[in-house]
Amino acid sequence: MHAMLSTAPGGPETLEWTEGPSPAPKKGEVRIAVKAAGVNFPDTLIIRDLYQVKPPRPFAPGGEVAGVVDAVGDGVTTLAAGDRVLAMTGFGGFTTHLCAQATACVKIPDDMPFEDAACFIFTYGTSHYALKNRAELKSGETLLILGAAGGVGAAAIELGKAAGARVIAAVSSQEKADFCRTLGADETIVYAREMDRDAQKALSAEIKKIAGPDGVHVAYDAVGGDYAEPVIRSMAWGGRFLVVGFPAGIPAIPLNLTLLKSCQIVGVFWGASIYRDPAGHMQNVSDLFEMYAQGKVKPRISASFPMQEAAKALTLIADRKVLGKVVLTNP
Ligand SMILES: NC(=O)c1ccc[n+]([C@@H]2O[C@H](COP(=O)([O-])OP(=O)(O)OC[C@H]3O[C@@H](n4cnc5c(N)ncnc54)[C@H](OP(=O)(O)O)[C@@H]3O)[C@@H](O)[C@H]2O)c1
Repeated sequence: MHAMLSTAPGGPETLEWTEGPSPAPKKGEVRIAVKAAGVNFPDTLIIRDLYQVKPPRPFAPGGEVAGVVDAVGDGVTTLAAGDRVLAMTGFGGFTTHLCAQATACVKIPDDMPFEDAACFIFTYGTSHYALKNRAELKSGETLLILGAAGGVGAAAIELGKAAGARVIAAVSSQEKADFCRTLGADETIVYAREMDRDAQKALSAEIKKIAGPDGVHVAYDAVGGDYAEPVIRSMAWGGRFLVVGFPAGIPAIPLNLTLLKSCQIVGVFWGASIYRDPAGHMQNVSDLFEMYAQGKVKPRISASFPMQEAAKALTLIADRKVLGKVVLTNP
């Protein structure tokens, strides 16, 4: 087997394509012959020791994979060799073979390509949990998404439309805005790539103009930094501001804004929610496969690289250049 290993903290250039022995599945695990791995923003952080999870080195980044079960450990009754699965791994996914807990694997529909399956659960799982369980988004509400052309943002556009919301996609370029329209966004906003005080005021004014007198009922913030406050200033009475991610930094918010809008700032920790509410998670996975079968959601993969070129994929994400998703594949 081969894996893209991180042996020291650093950028994508520090990863090494390394050969090693194939792992044997332990009790409760299966081994997956990986066909594709989804690439996500946390993969750019974990190799620099900037993520909340810090695996012992050497380790491969890669939080989600799809492939075929090729060995089964003791005690596994739900999966068999030959099953096509996706798996949430946290890390370890940029490889040709890995062992995962059987409980972290989900069988995928026969007609779902491995690339789609590898780019499915992290983004749609997060955004469905955020919009359905945390915001309780309702049909007819206005949903504003920051970083809407990224992985979780693009998923939130499709899920927002599927829930009947009016979706405003906010992004940093016209190319990204056009991409969001193809996913179903009703309105788009192009914000500045650097947020100073004037840019914050302009963003807030633009949101208020487009959202209308009520303001934004649900805001999905996958960007953070200085982008968050102008959105909170544009919330509707009783609105819900979802805290999803911080590629632009962790914002500090004047709490008086929540009082003035009687609005909520709502944390979203999808990864932990899976373990705290496995039944709710499986219901969400089932919802998502149904929406996939109906064509309501479909991962938008704008770039694909061989697994050993993972550094190129990570650089695209860190440089803010990705539309939708990037995937890595093994032949
Ligand atoms: N809370 C949870 O449970 C959960 C689950 C999954 C992911 N996340 C988090 O959600 C965030 C987005 O993840 P993703 O995989 O969707 O990432 P992504 O595809 O890279 O999208 C992130 C977007 O953030 C914007 N951005 C603003 N400043 C940036 C910067 N300095 N560097 C990079 N991007 C920047 C970019 O859009 P513009 O250029 O248009 O601004 C980019 O498209 C990450 O922080 C991730 O850790 C949280």
